[in-house]
Amino acid sequence: MKRQWFSLVVNGEPRKLEAYPIERLLDVLRDGMGLAGTKEGCGEGECGACSVLINGELVNSCLVPIVQANGTDIVTIEGVADGNHLHPVQQAFLTCGGAQCGMCTPGMIVATTYLLKKYSKPTSEQIREGLNGNLCRCTGYMRIFQAVERAVELGK
Ligand code: FES
Ligand code: FES
Repeated sequence: MKRQWFSLVVNGEPRKLEAYPIERLLDVLRDGMGLAGTKEGCGEGECGACSVLINGELVNSCLVPIVQANGTDIVTIEGVADGNHLHPVQQAFLTCGGAQCGMCTPGMIVATTYLLKKYSKPTSEQIREGLNGNLCRCTGYMRIFQAVERAVELGK
């Protein structure tokens, strides 16, 4: 198999890169583009640590070959803040202690931004359901759920 050129927009910037078509988007982002905020947990679509948005949809980047991401618009954790201003979701995770080791945090934050686009004021069930693809081994989840509720308040 030969390397090919791919074009995509990442965090608002048009990018071109050469890769094997089956290379995982996760690896292309981390190793090819230096966007190491997106984490690898399981590598099997189970933990959500690698969550990014593709064309506004939440996906596990460990399951996406770069060939499928060609021509798409991608948002990673590096694209969530507005310059030096934290996104309300980031601020809420900080304030509420929603991160401990930090391994799940970029994926949780990306998943939360997606959740809050779907529901401006999610119920507890919607928060739990919206984050059920993102695993955390440290926090016991309560502070994460509190952070989501806080983000709703901050976003107003
Ligand atoms: S690393 Fe992608 S879902 Fe776990
Ligand atoms: S903060 Fe450690 S896995 Fe969530």
